[in-house]
Amino acid sequence: MDKLFTIKDRVAVITGATGVLCAEMAREMARRGARVVVMSTAQERADNLTEKIRSEGGTALGVAVDVLDKDSLIRARERIVETFGRIDILINGAGGNHKSATVSPDFSFFDIPADALQWVFNLNVLGTVLATQVFGEVMVKQGKGSIINISSMNSYRPLTNIAAYSAAKASINNFTQWMAVHFNHNYSADIRVNAVAPGFFHTRQNHFLLVDEKTGEPTPRAKQILGHTPMNRYGVPEDLLGTVIWLASDASAFVNGVVVPVDGGFSAYSGV
Ligand SMILES: NC(=O)c1ccc[n+]([C@@H]2O[C@H](COP(=O)([O-])OP(=O)(O)OC[C@H]3O[C@@H](n4cnc5c(N)ncnc54)[C@H](O)[C@@H]3O)[C@@H](O)[C@H]2O)c1
Repeated sequence: MDKLFTIKDRVAVITGATGVLCAEMAREMARRGARVVVMSTAQERADNLTEKIRSEGGTALGVAVDVLDKDSLIRARERIVETFGRIDILINGAGGNHKSATVSPDFSFFDIPADALQWVFNLNVLGTVLATQVFGEVMVKQGKGSIINISSMNSYRPLTNIAAYSAAKASINNFTQWMAVHFNHNYSADIRVNAVAPGFFHTRQNHFLLVDEKTGEPTPRAKQILGHTPMNRYGVPEDLLGTVIWLASDASAFVNGVVVPVDGGFSAYSGV
């Protein structure tokens, strides 16, 4: 079993690696012996996490990257290949919602500016596609690799208010299936593309939706979310680790093009 799930010495590139969810993935992968490339928009943040991983005995390289800038991704790829020689795992973790693309009692659907909608689609969809183009090419040369996209619960059925984010994550599911087939048909049967769809994790991205800024109390939406989650709690970043290690390793060797919900049962519950 240990051999099946091993990621020892594999090179794992993680975009959005200093974020709440992906930082835990980066640390866990390093604990399991992977050589982790910590990508962040700011070199300082990447270096801070890299130092932490090294202090825990792991191997890591910090690289500043903008997933919307292909040249910056290509520069990062050169550095990674120079340092580690290969890329085995890619986690497309950079993503998120924007307050200006979110409907609220005093901000209607009709008020949402085009650039806010664009921002959400770019970060979640374009950022995943560009990183997969740039790092996926290395996997094609190797004939092997595992790509893990980060989707969301709202990709299956949209949540209210977050106008663009649900549609953007639905695109991630579609892109995951498309890419899984495309890599196998054109390059290698050993390159897999899957996704994880986290349920509700209380993070800085959604804090404004879950906690009333004025009172500090849970919002009605937060109560609805927990009421609709059979396990009756928010996820914690550690809840994602088992699924991510499974998808990254050969334990999932015949799993391709799937989107795995990690949601405390949210997607199984009809609400009745
Ligand atoms: N938090 C949740 O409840 C939740 C639920 C479902 C899915 N997700 C998804 O999980 C992933 C991680 O979310 P999180 O909650 O850890 O968010 P986070 O905001 O903590 O992390 C996102 C990271 O992406 C980075 N980033 C933003 N723009 C970038 C760019 N242009 N180039 C490179 N990096 C960039 C940010 O610096 C940040 O470190 C996202 O795709 C998010 O949509 C989160």
